[in-house]
Amino acid sequence: MIEKIDGKTRFGGVMGNPIAHTMSPLIHNTLAGKLSHNFVYLPLHVEQDLASAVKGAYALNVLGMNVTVPYKSEVIKSLVDIDEAAAKIGAVNTLVRVEGGYKGYNTDYLGLKRSIEEDGITIEGKPVLLFGAGGAAKAAACLAGAMKAKELYIINRTVEKAQELASYIEEQFGTKTFAVALTDVATLPKQTYTAIQTTNWGMWPNTGVTVLNEDCVYEMIDEAVDIIFNPPETEFMKRVKAHGGKAINGLKMLLYQGVTAYEFWHETKVDEALIKEVHELLEKEFENHE
Ligand code: ATR
Repeated sequence: MIEKIDGKTRFGGVMGNPIAHTMSPLIHNTLAGKLSHNFVYLPLHVEQDLASAVKGAYALNVLGMNVTVPYKSEVIKSLVDIDEAAAKIGAVNTLVRVEGGYKGYNTDYLGLKRSIEEDGITIEGKPVLLFGAGGAAKAAACLAGAMKAKELYIINRTVEKAQELASYIEEQFGTKTFAVALTDVATLPKQTYTAIQTTNWGMWPNTGVTVLNEDCVYEMIDEAVDIIFNPPETEFMKRVKAHGGKAINGLKMLLYQGVTAYEFWHETKVDEALIKEVHELLEKEFENHE
């Protein structure tokens, strides 16, 4: 957090509804303080009329904004430009100030990519299991497509949603993609998979449950990402590990979505030591949560 606000302080924030539980102010104000950028970051509760909020932000010289639930798709029509990956995902969570308005990026996607790369989770050339078919799943499915997964299996309780997403991924990326009903997971081909868990089933306070219950599927997963970060070790992660696999949570995705947004706004590169410091701060936030 910067120590003094003066006539040159710029600001940014996160627009959403609800917004009270956001971790983004912790990430951005810590970075601004450590990097001595004259910048503050606030939660911005937008109850309605998002378009006016974006227009107002530009008029008020706001440097950059994040956008969260329920506005990640709706915000697109208020932008002057959009990044290619964000356009494919159909969701934007970061607005970067450009001439005449804001350009939209999806740093959830970029954050998941950085997290996967840093932790050495294999996507390229490997069959990938994706659990869920909602907004977060679409970003992860686009990543699996862009990172050249060998095949993608989208597994969802409502199979129609998985089918819709599977057709989209095949059309956009040419990745061989299959839709599988959650009740049919035992029919998956016997091979070694990387898994990405994107449903909210298992998130605090509903800990101790997981979308996948079949041991025969856990046996085939050797690397996994659960995008949930609270609790730090989900039931899904526990079961992957119990079967000898490696599993990471979504905290680095959260961290890197923030760091990447910060880097866009301040045209800088945050160094590894500082990223580690912010990571530890976030870990502490969730340590004693229950
Ligand atoms: P997000 O944008 O965070 O991805 P979402 O669009 O509401 O959120 O998607 C939630 C996902 O979690 C969906 O894939 C949902 O399955 P359905 O499409 O069948 O609703 C999945 N999900 C949530 N609770 C679940 C549960 N108890 N069992 C299985 N899947 C669940």
